[in-house]
Amino acid sequence: PSASQTLAEASPFHIGFAISPARIQNIALYRQTVIQEANSITADVAMKPSRISPQKGVYKFEEADQLIAFAQSQKKRIHGHTLVWYIDTSPTWLKQIRDSTELESTLQSYIQTVATHFKGKVASWDVVNEAFDKQGAIRTDSLEGPGRPTFNVGKILGKDYVARMFQYAHNADPDARLFYNDYAQETRPAKLEAILAMVADFKRRGVPIHGLGLQMHISIDTPDAGIENAIRRYAETGLLVHISELDIAMNPDKKKDFVPTPELLEKQYEKYKFVVSTYKKVVPASQQFGITMWGVDDGTSWIPGFCKCADNVLLFDANYVKKRSYQGFLEGL
Ligand code: XIL
Repeated sequence: PSASQTLAEASPFHIGFAISPARIQNIALYRQTVIQEANSITADVAMKPSRISPQKGVYKFEEADQLIAFAQSQKKRIHGHTLVWYIDTSPTWLKQIRDSTELESTLQSYIQTVATHFKGKVASWDVVNEAFDKQGAIRTDSLEGPGRPTFNVGKILGKDYVARMFQYAHNADPDARLFYNDYAQETRPAKLEAILAMVADFKRRGVPIHGLGLQMHISIDTPDAGIENAIRRYAETGLLVHISELDIAMNPDKKKDFVPTPELLEKQYEKYKFVVSTYKKVVPASQQFGITMWGVDDGTSWIPGFCKCADNVLLFDANYVKKRSYQGFLEGL
């Protein structure tokens, strides 16, 4: 790739950014960066269940529709994220349902309503996000800890619920490409194997699935072999492969007073280059759904809020200046 090209111009596959409609509206450089560098968009929260259905029976599509209007006006692809998720961005009313028949029909009608609303605009969906735990079992518990609302969808509906959610999504929009999305497949082999076994089972039974998402919230210390193995095993399924939420931490110990040194920024450059070049090399072109960055700039990344620490995980600094990591991404293409 030439140094004068943007990522989207230089890339043989789609380059995505996870974004929020409010920032697109309010931060000119954020908007500009997305317009120039990306040709695919994921909503960071605007299309999650808690935003779309904050109360039972109530659907609010304004925020997501705003994002779609932006994407359409800029001719960007939109990837839907996410229809079903066990964690905090599921609304409280939904998490309170304990009866399996009620929960099943509620999720079915949620998927039907949402996938129908976005039909023709959102051509792909993360149908279920993070269904497996690190031992490779279907989650029957929530990570959210004592005193917080839990959403034990796996416990209430049984482990085959994932297949049924894919079927509901397919029934609502038969043209949509349906993805299973999860994290840490590069460091947790049992989880990776469980996802691959699920794919094999879906294929045997004719359950519709078209793609796999590797979130890849990784760090400069994540072993290359694990990254390459996860990408390779996913590619071997023949499904589309999406690196769906990429960011690379430099402060895995979560120090509060972290300041990136030139050495760490160089390691981050190397790791970005490795991820991108491995994806390009290992995934056949016809299966390259693309690489999506989970955010635009270090100033608005979700990581500091999540780790309660300082970090600089993305390709642009808080002033939207390209970092060495940007260079690494570009060189990997
Ligand atoms: C994150 C968003 O970026 C945050 O703004 C929000 O508070 C929590 O969710 N895995 C996922 C994403 O699949 O949806 C998460 O996004 C990050 C981890």
